[in-house]
Amino acid sequence: MKLIKAVRGTKDIFGDEAEKYIYVSDMAQRIFGDYGYTYIKTPVFEETDLFRRGVGEGTDIVEKEMYTFLDKGDRSLTLRPENTASVVRSYLENAIYAKEDISKFYYNGSMFRYERPQAGRQREFNQIGIEILGDPSPIADAEVIEVGYFLLSTLGIVDLEVKINSVGGAATRERYRANLLSFLNPHREELCEDCRNRMDNNPLRVLDCKNETCKGIVEKAPSIIDALDEEERAHYEAVKKYLTLFNIKYTEDSRLVRGLDYYSSTVFEIVTNKLGAQGAVLGGGRYDNLLKQLGDKDIPAVGFAAGVERIMMLLDSFQPEKYYVYVAWLGEKALDEAVKISRILRNAGCKTAIDYREKGIKSHMKKADKLGVKYCIILGEEEISKNTLVFKNFENRTQEELTLTEILAKIGKC
Ligand code: HAM
Repeated sequence: MKLIKAVRGTKDIFGDEAEKYIYVSDMAQRIFGDYGYTYIKTPVFEETDLFRRGVGEGTDIVEKEMYTFLDKGDRSLTLRPENTASVVRSYLENAIYAKEDISKFYYNGSMFRYERPQAGRQREFNQIGIEILGDPSPIADAEVIEVGYFLLSTLGIVDLEVKINSVGGAATRERYRANLLSFLNPHREELCEDCRNRMDNNPLRVLDCKNETCKGIVEKAPSIIDALDEEERAHYEAVKKYLTLFNIKYTEDSRLVRGLDYYSSTVFEIVTNKLGAQGAVLGGGRYDNLLKQLGDKDIPAVGFAAGVERIMMLLDSFQPEKYYVYVAWLGEKALDEAVKISRILRNAGCKTAIDYREKGIKSHMKKADKLGVKYCIILGEEEISKNTLVFKNFENRTQEELTLTEILAKIGKC
């Protein structure tokens, strides 16, 4: 019989990897919560139009990468390729803007993009992210970047580079687009096939093509920063000032344009050189026009999303939490007591292992050793009659006879 395998570009997460996954999501949840962001959970699929209008027709995501299907009612639905459009849809649909002037959300969950799978790039991947809706100030942009950076550094990830740029509003981009096209036109035939197409659909994307020839050509391209109007420039300068206030080192990269159409001024990425071609761990920016486009509301917004799998790849020294105590029981009568003791230890917050199969002391010790526990509690009929327990310290290899209360006092905080 042919064994059915996970679909290309998808991955099961279990064992140590699952511990890592939970560690990252828990840390993100804690840090986002500390900054006052609240959880929002939106559906995994949405009407296709949401992403067409939100992410943009000319983007690779909408053109080539969406998992779009007709349901049994003939509706065109799409598995979300990202979550910003969904958060905005929910915010507008539930009129959250009428309840609070500034909303701060965080989310986590699976996103789906039909990309060519490789290390750090999957077709189903997980993102954690935040969005601030209703705050136009540049300090919100800086806060979002600082939250992302703080999360990654708290997880122990080093050697990160924060890249920032501003892509300006629609009028600026229109002006710049014309400028860029006149620069690119004489080089058209030297550019890669993707970039020749991009020149027709989305010329700004030529700027961050990874092809070496294209990179060489765009090095001399006009900078979008020079095209910003006065207000956009002042916003960008203020973001940089606040990043310095937050003590975030950044690099300005005028070629950073991002792959989604909704950005309207600040854009940023946090990158590493440890993941080869998939160096972007986190990306985001300001999208002040998206709420107008999707719901006719003039509400500014800014946010980021980070790839959980990419973060996990950077946690080289991660150690899954080991069992703290192993409870070994000898003889059928000791099982009841061992179960009770395990419950008390778990109540005290100790990760406790117990094997319900009857076995000899040697076999118990072998198992406790394999699990890497710090302590072992051993009880047999003799200990039960004396109301004591054998308490073995696996770190210094000592052993003593104690009551459970004495053991709990010794173990202290697990
Ligand atoms: P994005 O840059 O498309 O932005 O994705 C954010 C992050 O998701 C990337 O930096 C990367 O770590 C991860 N990622 C993207 N595609 C894949 C993939 N195929 N496999 C594994 N990881 C991937 C957004 O999605 C925007 N919604 C971010 C945002 C929020 N902008 C404003 N608010």
